[in-house]
Amino acid sequence: MEFVVKNGTAEKQKTACLIIGVHKKTLPASATAIDSSTEGYLSGVLKRGDLDFTPGHSLMLLHTHHAPFERLLLLAMGDSDKPLTEAEFKKLTGNLASQLKAVKSKEASVAITDIAVEGKSLQWITRQLVEAIEYAFYQFTQFKNDTGKDALSANSLKKVVLLADRKTADEVKAGLAQGQAIGNGRNIARTLGNLPGNICHPTYLADEAKALAKNHTRLTTRILNEKQMADLGMGSLLSVSAGSEQEACLICMEFKNGKRGAKPLVLLGKGITFDTGGISLKPGAAMDEMKFDMCGAASVFGVMNAILDLDLPLNVIGMVAAAENMPSGKASRPGDIVTSMSGKTIEILNTDAEGRLVLCDALTYAERYKPEAVVDIATLTGACIVALGHHTTGLLSNNEPLADDLLNASKEAMDNAWQLPMGEEYTQQLDSNFADLANIGGPSAGTITAACFLARFAEAYPWAHLDIAGTAWKSGKEKGATGRPVPMLVQFLLNRINN
Ligand code: BES
Ligand code: MN
Ligand code: ZN
Repeated sequence: MEFVVKNGTAEKQKTACLIIGVHKKTLPASATAIDSSTEGYLSGVLKRGDLDFTPGHSLMLLHTHHAPFERLLLLAMGDSDKPLTEAEFKKLTGNLASQLKAVKSKEASVAITDIAVEGKSLQWITRQLVEAIEYAFYQFTQFKNDTGKDALSANSLKKVVLLADRKTADEVKAGLAQGQAIGNGRNIARTLGNLPGNICHPTYLADEAKALAKNHTRLTTRILNEKQMADLGMGSLLSVSAGSEQEACLICMEFKNGKRGAKPLVLLGKGITFDTGGISLKPGAAMDEMKFDMCGAASVFGVMNAILDLDLPLNVIGMVAAAENMPSGKASRPGDIVTSMSGKTIEILNTDAEGRLVLCDALTYAERYKPEAVVDIATLTGACIVALGHHTTGLLSNNEPLADDLLNASKEAMDNAWQLPMGEEYTQQLDSNFADLANIGGPSAGTITAACFLARFAEAYPWAHLDIAGTAWKSGKEKGATGRPVPMLVQFLLNRINN
């Protein structure tokens, strides 16, 4: 989608579709101006009660008298003229995006400065609105021959104009830049997630990283192959790819744009490009969705793209532990004992608990960067869906300030997360009779014991873990990757600059 910021007043816009907010009590500035230039047409319509003022509702008016615009979309902003709550605003942007998808015009103009949200800046409002539009207009059609039949591809809108004035233009422009970077980064993550396992395998991800580095001088890519990982002693990571024809790799995208010598932030994504469960084979139902088991990795790619777009003055390492989990004569068996790069031995009691096996060696490798903090992002446990459903990402950490920073970022980005506890009593569930630790901790507190496993490999730095098993993709009719938690992570990085 093309966005532009334009100085101008709503009532004078020669646009195919003008979009303004209205509340019942008093008309905002744009609406008042339109009402007088159309000889009271707008207030007449509203008086008749044709618009439900509850946020999330809207009314499209065609053929407005004496108006330079062809259509007028009224967005409900409530009965009173109080600023919207965040939840109301989310409904408004959702409705706006779906109305824009339905509209049969190439261009639309939004009177963004009339929208007020409790405690939020115009920059934030702009950014969220742009993100919502980018999200709504995303399509994944690369494997469809007949895209014309797809209702989604009937979108005709190409350009959105954000109306501002001299005073507000800078804020709107700043919000637009962030919204586009985050929206695009999120959509890149969605596409990687949506790609099937036969195409998006570990080497495909490595090639993506190489391509990104080729286009950006501030990014360099280092890719470890299986031989190199074996030399480093990554017996845990390699045990996951052992059953696969696809070679595993560890991808490190190094973005150096901060102060020289400043410790980097490391983002580490779980990149299981397909998770069959291995010898502990998963049941068949919905197994196709295990192509999404690299959505943590996808989110790292999304974030790297966004920070390149925004040219953030930070040092950030995007790491991806990529492997395919397959059963075969060469696959790991339950009961196998492997030695991780840290030297700790692991008894693999369930080959389906593979995410932690690839991440633990990557966490050890991350020590080389002397990181300020490491955040891993992983579709790690079905238990997280039981605990938090599909709305909220699980957050676990060995460092409270880091956890707080991520929670604050999640709130600001409207990309929810919730912290779960950790502790010695949970770690004990991982005790093994035969090795230093087992890779599963029994049926209770599955998300927490998985995090406790990882924590044993993340003792050298502040670390947080995001379990996105419930939030990374949608099932059913809307099946597809969501691109979460790209917004939270980019916000987290943005906040690091200001501090
Ligand atoms: N990738 C799965 C977790 C998952 C399952 C995410 C379903 C989203 C939906 C992970 O590799 C896995 O299989 N975890 C096991 C762990 C168990 C064996 C301790 C799980 O959650 O069942
Ligand atoms: Mn698994
Ligand atoms: Zn998995």
